[in-house]
Amino acid sequence: MRTVPGAGSVDPIRARVRRRPSAVLGLALLLSACAAIRGAPPDEASVAARPATVYHAMSRPEIQGHMRVLAEELLTLVGLTAPEVPAAAVNRDEVLASLGRIAGRARQVGGGGTFTNYSVVNDYMDAFLEDVALSSEFARREPPNLVPANRLVQSCLSCHRSL
Ligand code: HEC
Repeated sequence: MRTVPGAGSVDPIRARVRRRPSAVLGLALLLSACAAIRGAPPDEASVAARPATVYHAMSRPEIQGHMRVLAEELLTLVGLTAPEVPAAAVNRDEVLASLGRIAGRARQVGGGGTFTNYSVVNDYMDAFLEDVALSSEFARREPPNLVPANRLVQSCLSCHRSL
């Protein structure tokens, strides 16, 4: 287990996120600080133990590409759900669309019974997708509660902390 510098609190990330466009780079650096693992191919026994699952092998550039798209979309989401945004100005449809894009991209990486060559993805992607679903559920409430959506980065980090 590696620790991410500054990952103990969300504030450093929030601070970066407010300073777009350098925010994308900042977030990428912060999150990739702990991402220096290689995807090891699973041994045959563990693949055979889950015959009903779809096996999805990803190259490192492939998963990194998905992650960069996730990082870009997360910044959009954080901007849309910032606590400073007055309730009347909140665009719930945009928030839900952004969450939908995050879920769609995350599913391209793993989760939902997919078995990948990244054990952290196998262990944590379903929990991440549940958090995205919960964030959408709260955003649909009357009045919308955007707090879980705004804090979704914590769910990114709970997988990243396990890298
Ligand atoms: C289920 C696990 C998991 C979740 C959830 C997850 N990531 Fe990742 N992320 C990874 C793994 C694994 C890598 C490292 C791939 C490698 O470099 O070997 C990574 C790498 C990254 C990188 C570095 C990409 C690069 O170019 O090196 C960024 C940025 C990133 N993630 C952002 C995010 C953001 C933002 C979220 C949430 C919206 C998120 N991740 C959610 C597993 C996850």
